[in-house]
Amino acid sequence: MIRLDKFLSEMSGWTRSEVKKIVRTGSVTVDGNEVKKPETKIDEKLSIVSVDGRQIKYNKYEYYMLNKPKGFVSATTDREHKTVVDIISSSEKKDLFPVGRLDIDTEGLLLITNDGELAHRLLAPKNHVEKTYYVEVSGILDVDAVEKGIDIGEEKNTIPAKMEILKTDIQNNISSCYLTIHEGKFHQVKRMMKKLGKTVTYLKRVSMGSL
Ligand code: URA
Repeated sequence: MIRLDKFLSEMSGWTRSEVKKIVRTGSVTVDGNEVKKPETKIDEKLSIVSVDGRQIKYNKYEYYMLNKPKGFVSATTDREHKTVVDIISSSEKKDLFPVGRLDIDTEGLLLITNDGELAHRLLAPKNHVEKTYYVEVSGILDVDAVEKGIDIGEEKNTIPAKMEILKTDIQNNISSCYLTIHEGKFHQVKRMMKKLGKTVTYLKRVSMGSL
């Protein structure tokens, strides 16, 4: 059970005070009956709530495919920096979190949700969910090195990754590639590149699983 005004503000994006005004005007019905008290308790899954005859459906979960900019931390709160959750300012959900992490200077796809089960499925190491990054490095890349697996100081070598080289500029000593990995070790791409003697100068995640 949930308060009618909470339900409506979570599902519509109206503020609680806007919702209270709307409810008091008599525009809202619950199971066909006009309800003018914002504090009325409703069953969020079963009650049929309408505003001016338009039904407002209940969605427990929200999903955002965020194109994370640089400068934001992948956390729900932080003392120093803005977080990726701060970007989703339109949401009334209080329990949004990022599915995994991108470094503060990494850009690209980050799923933000309050669906813990989905997050668990996407992050569980045994599921080997593919993640593809666009990577720019100083240095010249070699496909073979990542395809064999790399010792980055973990118990086991990295699972063989896939690299598609996009640019090799020998004169300026820079390269770029798409790198697809099946794990999510801390700073994994940067550590893999470091081990190969390259420094990542730009990193952007372009896909995660089927997203
Ligand atoms: N690998 C990294 O090194 N950093 C990221 O943000 C993501 C993957």
